[in-house]
Amino acid sequence: MDTNQKTLIRALNGETFSVPPIWLMRQAGRYLPEYRETRKQAGNFLELCYNPDLAVEVTLQPIRRYDLDASIMFSDILVVPDALGQRVEFREGEGPVLEPIQAVEALNVLSPEGIIDHLQPVFETIRRLRRELPQDKTLIGFAGSPWTVAIYMVEGRGGTDGGTARRWAYQEPESFSQLMDVLVQATTEYLIAQVDNGVEVLQLFDSWSGVLSEDQFRKWSIEPTRKIIDGVRAVHPHIPVIGFPRGGGLMAAEYIRETGVSGISLDANAPLEWAKETLQPLATLQGNLDNQLLVSGGAEMDRSVRRILEVLGTGPFIFNLGHGIVPSTPPENVARVVELVRQKS
Ligand code: CP3
Repeated sequence: MDTNQKTLIRALNGETFSVPPIWLMRQAGRYLPEYRETRKQAGNFLELCYNPDLAVEVTLQPIRRYDLDASIMFSDILVVPDALGQRVEFREGEGPVLEPIQAVEALNVLSPEGIIDHLQPVFETIRRLRRELPQDKTLIGFAGSPWTVAIYMVEGRGGTDGGTARRWAYQEPESFSQLMDVLVQATTEYLIAQVDNGVEVLQLFDSWSGVLSEDQFRKWSIEPTRKIIDGVRAVHPHIPVIGFPRGGGLMAAEYIRETGVSGISLDANAPLEWAKETLQPLATLQGNLDNQLLVSGGAEMDRSVRRILEVLGTGPFIFNLGHGIVPSTPPENVARVVELVRQKS
């Protein structure tokens, strides 16, 4: 099927559907027993990301189970710092751990060719997925936005308030800019290569943009995102891009206008009526079921899915969660949500 005829792409180009397209952040992952099985074979998590056989397998697992419109290539936002020469480790039960950097000089930054070379297994995964994915599915590529990736690089782990990164940005904006420029350049090259190899949509995850104050949000979330999108579209002018400025709240409208995203992914906190009135005229909306409702399920989950569909489904819309699926999610709750969105019950 031609890319432009796929529902998810048409929704990102502004079309409204009575049954909206659906995919779910972290649709591949530990909540699926078959993922845990494959994960065991890989050894560590980065080896899973860099093993095309296994990465293709886990990307396809949710597609085999559920009637989803899209597949997100299996990788992680932290392959970029890894490609930039920073040590990245994923520890069981602890999440990612990096050796924190305090200056851009700490990175042994490779040339753009070197970075792309390091990430070749990801491009191989993409090429194979384009062959193996059912025809009507859209293949989504992604990267972290520079601010979110920088938080992991500077703090050395997630789950912080980004205090060290925020202080660096205030105290030495020049040197912090250098780090952000390195990330903008690497991420732009990385995303261009993803599209060259076959992804049809890009999502930029700014999972920690919500810790930034108003002017810092402009400087470190909006600006770098805009530069990346401009850079990618200079080569691939029509590529749809979804932005996910998690916790960005009222900055969302400015984020859409300034970055040029085609769609914006809303976290569970976004008021639906506000999003419909303020944001939907500017971009396609994606979201925003609470990922913990997907764990608890039941009538409350059904109600919430129906309300999201009712309010946001009258305009350009993609059903998704407010944040990624968590490991304790019962797989049958995912099936139920897909069924509700497909209006099969
Ligand atoms: O199905 C998919 O969504 C595809 C793959 C995907 C992963 N990570 C796989 C993964 C995607 C799109 C990501 C993005 C990502 N990674 C983000 C942005 C989205 C968000 O959740 O805010 C961030 C911040 C990361 C960094 C990261 N990677 C963290 C914080 C963790 C630990 C938390 C956790 O869930 O364990 C990871 C590990 C990770 N990335 C796992 C998966 C399936 C679990 C690791 C494992 O299997 O051991």
